[in-house]
Amino acid sequence: MAARSAILGAGHYVPSKVVTNDDLTKLIPSTSDAWIQERTGIRERRIIEHDGIGASDLAVPAAKMAIERAGLTIHDIDAIIFATLSPDLTFPGSGVLLQHKLGMPQIPALDVRNQCSGFLYSLSVADAWIRAGVYKHVLIVGAEVHSTGLDLSDRGRDVSVLFGDGAGAVVVGRSPDPERGVLNVVIRSDGVGAHDLMVECPASKYMPRITKEMIDEGRIWPKMNGKLVFRWATEKMPEVAIESMEKAGVNVDDIDLFIPHQANMRINQFVAMKLNIPQEKIVHNIDRYGNTTAATIPIGISESLGEGRLKPGMTVLFAGFGAGFTWGASVVRW
Ligand code: COA
Repeated sequence: MAARSAILGAGHYVPSKVVTNDDLTKLIPSTSDAWIQERTGIRERRIIEHDGIGASDLAVPAAKMAIERAGLTIHDIDAIIFATLSPDLTFPGSGVLLQHKLGMPQIPALDVRNQCSGFLYSLSVADAWIRAGVYKHVLIVGAEVHSTGLDLSDRGRDVSVLFGDGAGAVVVGRSPDPERGVLNVVIRSDGVGAHDLMVECPASKYMPRITKEMIDEGRIWPKMNGKLVFRWATEKMPEVAIESMEKAGVNVDDIDLFIPHQANMRINQFVAMKLNIPQEKIVHNIDRYGNTTAATIPIGISESLGEGRLKPGMTVLFAGFGAGFTWGASVVRW
C-alpha cells in the first residue's frame, strides 16, 4: 500500500486575556450576552494582551507544543505551512516570521490564504508532499489575530462578536502504519461568494490602496452576509463530508469524533444532524474561543488529544467552510 501521511502531534495557544459577551456590550451596546449565546454558542473569546503581538507570535508556542508532542525537534521539520487571514504584515507572509522566531533551518515557508478552510487546504498540501516523498515532516500552523481588525461599534456587531485570537498547529509526517493516517482531504471553492464575506480595503486595485474615506465608511472592516454564509455552510459542509467519507470507504457510523470548523455552534449542530452524527461526538470550542478561523480545527485536535478524547484507532472527520467561499473535509484514522 502507498505511504500515507499522519498527524504526528498537535499543539495550541490562546492569549490570556478573556473578553466575555458582557465585556463586548460595553463597546457595542446594541448586542447582548443572550443574543450572542443563543445565535452562536459563544460565551467568551481570547484576545492579545497588548498591541504588537502578531499571528506569528501566537504560532510560536502552538508550534513548539505540536513538535514536542510529535516527539521531534525543530530541526526535524522540513517545511512550514502557515494558514491565516490575519498575517502580521501585508507581506512577507507569517510563515517566514515563524521560521525565524523558532530559529529553524532555512526550510521553505508557504503561506495559505484560505481563511476558515485554511487548515484543510494546508492539510491537503502537506498530505500530498508527504505521500510524494518531497518532505518528511511538515509543520502546519493556523493562527489569527482578529481583535485588531474588528469594527467594535454597533455598525459591526454582526461580525465583531464572532471572532477571537488563537493558534493551533500540527506536525504531519509519514504514517508508521499504512492502515492509519490521513485517508483523504477534499477541498473546494466558489468565488460567487467572494463579496459576501470579505475585507475590502486596503486593496491593490485602488490607487491609493487606503484613504480616509475608506476608513470613515468602514470599508476596512470585515463584512458578511450572515444568512447566506449560514445557508452555504450548512449545505456544503455535509456535502463535502459525505464525499470525503465515501472516498475513504467509511460511513457515518464509523466516525468516532467530528472536529468541525467553529464558526457557529448552530451551524455545527445542524451539520451533525444532517449527517446523523450524534451531538456527543462533536468537538466544540467556540463557546470559549469564538471563531479563530484557520486555528479552530488544530485547536480542536490539540485539546481533544490533551483531554484523552482523541485516541489511537479512532476515525475522525474534519469539515469547514469560510470566506471565498472555500470549504473542505477530511477523514483521518488516528
Ligand atoms: N447583537 C444583537 N443583534 C444582532 C447582532 C448582534 N451581535 N448581529 C445582528 N443582529 C440583529 C440583526 O441586525 C437582525 O436584526 P433585525 O431583525 O432588526 O434586522 C437580527 O439580529 C437577526 O439577524 P440575523 O442576521 O437574521 O441573525 P441570524 O440568526 O442569521 O444570526 C449570525 C446571525 C451572524 C450569527 C448567523 O447568520 C451566522 O452565524 N452566519 C454565518 C457565520 C459564519 O459562518 N461566518 C463566517 C465565518 S466562516
